[in-house]
Amino acid sequence: MMFKDKLIKERIPKHVAIIMDGNGRWAAQFGNERSFGHEHGVEAVRSVVEGAGEIGIDFLTLYAFSTENWSRPKEEVDALMGLLVQAISDETDELKKSNVRLQVIGDVKSLPDNVQEKLAWSIDKLSGSTGLTLVLALSYSSKWEIVEAVKRIAEQVKLGKLEPSEIDYDLMNCYLNTSEMPDPELLIRTSGECRISNFLLWQIAYAELYFTPKLWPDFRKEDLFEAIFDFQNRERRFGKTSQQLVS
Ligand code: IPE
Ligand code: IPE
Ligand code: MG
Repeated sequence: MMFKDKLIKERIPKHVAIIMDGNGRWAAQFGNERSFGHEHGVEAVRSVVEGAGEIGIDFLTLYAFSTENWSRPKEEVDALMGLLVQAISDETDELKKSNVRLQVIGDVKSLPDNVQEKLAWSIDKLSGSTGLTLVLALSYSSKWEIVEAVKRIAEQVKLGKLEPSEIDYDLMNCYLNTSEMPDPELLIRTSGECRISNFLLWQIAYAELYFTPKLWPDFRKEDLFEAIFDFQNRERRFGKTSQQLVS
């Protein structure tokens, strides 16, 4: 039986986040440049977005480029930005047909102008969709996001529009890039690395973590379904005891 058929429909996570890792190592297996791996990573994105739509996930957040990734060699950064523009151009029509909406989190203004323009074009074109929301994390890092939120909250306090006593979890949520999404219940990282790399630190406070050795260009929707199957077989206690959950 396929993993998809084993999933409990009522317990599909609303939000799944993925750290898409291992493109460079995948390319190296074939003696190719790292950018070859990034190019093939697009096929994995296509499959996973399709799979997420099929099982009714509401939000799929993909970590595509971190703040730290700006430190990579210029040729690689340029190749990634070019690929991003290409992929958005190529995929937007299909995403529209699939009723997918697009959103971006991260320091969008730090991206090259043509990338910003292409993103804005696609977001606008897909704004009428009512199915899956695909969230791309671009020039994103969680510490950056939290510092930005704190700065804006401090500004409100300074203006006398907010009392420090009013600052709570809900208010913090409102100031994050993810304010319109539920927290991810499941975080997947490919390539065997077991770290978070500055991704959604606040939002994954209670997420289930799933690490797979598969390199990102080899990842397909069936792997997503397997991760969700694993997720559905975990007991999420949120600090309570097992017994409390039963009763
Ligand atoms: C993930 O693959 C893609 C990005 C971070 C943009 P990597 O490029 O990190 O590939 P590895 O981890 O070096 O194999
Ligand atoms: C994390 O992958 C960032 C993205 C997937 C976009 P990296 O490959 O950059 O992370 P590290 O360097 O292994 O922590
Ligand atoms: Mg990596």
